[in-house]
Amino acid sequence: MSNDPKEPLLLDHNYDGIQELDNNLPRWWVWLFYITIIYAAIYLVYFHVTRTGNLSAAEYDQEMKAGAVVKNAAMGKFESGLSTLTPSSDAMVLENGRQSYAKFCAPCHRADGGGLVGPNLTDDYWIHGSNYTDTVKVIWDGVPAKGMITWKTVLKPDEIQSVASYIYTLRGAKLATPGKLPENQTPVKTGPSQFE
Ligand code: HEC
Repeated sequence: MSNDPKEPLLLDHNYDGIQELDNNLPRWWVWLFYITIIYAAIYLVYFHVTRTGNLSAAEYDQEMKAGAVVKNAAMGKFESGLSTLTPSSDAMVLENGRQSYAKFCAPCHRADGGGLVGPNLTDDYWIHGSNYTDTVKVIWDGVPAKGMITWKTVLKPDEIQSVASYIYTLRGAKLATPGKLPENQTPVKTGPSQFE
């Protein structure tokens, strides 16, 4: 093609009338390109050579460990204060408890607490004690050998407190269909019959 000094950038080829200009790249683009190279070098040294930075898997492990510490502390605190717990009568707490009960407990203890696979929670007969703290303990630890789930691995401490408070309100409830009979052959009437 022409060597016309006015068209110094026109490359010497022509495909079906399409010609190409050999423009210099804009400076900002070239600098950006250099920056990405520098960035990649720093990244490589930081994460893979000196291993100063944590890769995402290590970061995840670290977060999980920090989370476990918080969780264990919360569980330990709940456990150590468990013997002084009292049932809540707060409407929000009871409503949360009602929802957890419907979701997690009703399949075994019946929607109204009358008992199915699990025992009747409305009568006065308690296998594991009638005190509120006995109830919380049995929910917390479960009775795996008898089919009652260890809820501390599923529910948070405050959820256990709310579901326990909720079932406390079921004590002495008048059931539309008779509840499950006491499992003890020689039952001992222990529980307070009504939550106040
Ligand atoms: C898979 C069935 C199952 C589910 C789900 C279940 N339970 Fe139980 N639960 C049982 C059985 C079975 C027992 C009796 C354990 C025993 O005989 O020692 C029991 C016992 C109990 C007791 C002790 C009763 C007593 O007489 O001392 C309480 C309180 C209780 N469950 C509350 C709950 C709560 C609250 C939930 C939901 C968070 C729940 N359970 C979910 C099966 C279940």
